[in-house]
Amino acid sequence: TKVDWDVSAPGKQGYPYFMAKEIDEQPTCIRRILSNYLVNNDIEFGFGGTLDDALKNFNRICIVACGTALHAGIMGAQLFKKWTGINVDTEMASEFIYSDTTVGPDTLFIAVSQSGETIDTLEALRKAKEAGALCLAILNVRGSSISRVADYTLYTDAGPEIAVASTKAYTTQMLMFYMLALKSGLVRGTITEEYFEEATSNLRKIPDAMAEVIGQKDAIHKLAKEVITASDLFMIGRGLDYTVLMEGALKLKEISYIHSEAYAAGELKHGPIALISEGTPVIAAVTQTHLISKALSNVKEIRARGANVVLIAKNELKADFSDEYHVIGLPDLDDEYMSFPEIVALQIYSYYVSADKGLDVDKPRNLAKVVTVE
Ligand code: G6P
Repeated sequence: TKVDWDVSAPGKQGYPYFMAKEIDEQPTCIRRILSNYLVNNDIEFGFGGTLDDALKNFNRICIVACGTALHAGIMGAQLFKKWTGINVDTEMASEFIYSDTTVGPDTLFIAVSQSGETIDTLEALRKAKEAGALCLAILNVRGSSISRVADYTLYTDAGPEIAVASTKAYTTQMLMFYMLALKSGLVRGTITEEYFEEATSNLRKIPDAMAEVIGQKDAIHKLAKEVITASDLFMIGRGLDYTVLMEGALKLKEISYIHSEAYAAGELKHGPIALISEGTPVIAAVTQTHLISKALSNVKEIRARGANVVLIAKNELKADFSDEYHVIGLPDLDDEYMSFPEIVALQIYSYYVSADKGLDVDKPRNLAKVVTVE
């Protein structure tokens, strides 16, 4: 599964910013992983099947990372719970290092990192290893420090990510978790073979779905223009939508300097709704069929307080909402896989807000691509 890429500065290839190029590369990156790991409708990680045995036997998983990689890990936790029922803890690496931990020999510990050099994640991994956990790393950069400590490393092979704000690293990390959780479900017998096959055919649809969203850049750009003077923006959703919005809100705040927060829609009434007033921009994601009516009733509550709402919904529902809301329509995948087109829409949105504000999209103030200090 080794992929060669040019490690010298790859150039923007005509794009104004690396972030724009890296957003567009995502369908290709996802296709590359799928062609490396999906073998005859099975998911094969290599390692002579020993990782599969680990996935079968562990009853606890702990996922640790920072920033965007942490958000991929939070998605991973949802997926493991959905498809295996395993207990999963997700922790910020910086907190994990100094907190009491119950990680031990019964735990599969997963560290996620684009660079493989983030000191907090590396220290967390060392701590888990000392406690006897089996350590798996999901990394992009080969030969990095974290890979030298981990027992197993899965590479996302997304090529160099230059923009500080992570895009293709996130979606490829997320895909790794989809594959890990599905394979775990299969080997543990918590999902059927039919379900697994259906799932792999869903995975194959992801690249085209992402490309379709990339094709709607201009429409998303139009919506982004409306918030360039905003000081706060909220993103609300339930279930997997909420998980994706955490990453969406991080993207926007990193590169546009607009204060943006993701809230679980059902939690709004316990505090955050106090922050909604006339004209407050809100992005509401409603891609999860079983949660739509609940999520929409939350949207109505904030609309009643004057919020300016952009809805992110599946294309099949777009027409139902278009009279009342600005809608970003996403390709109709099964609910579980909507995270991919959804985050692409939010990346594009954040990108244009930053670019239109005239900011340095690739090098936001105060942030570094790789953080090697605690
Ligand atoms: C920095 C970067 C983020 C990244 C985080 C973790 O804060 O600006 O984009 O998500 O570090 O980096 P890693 O290389 O461990 O994924």
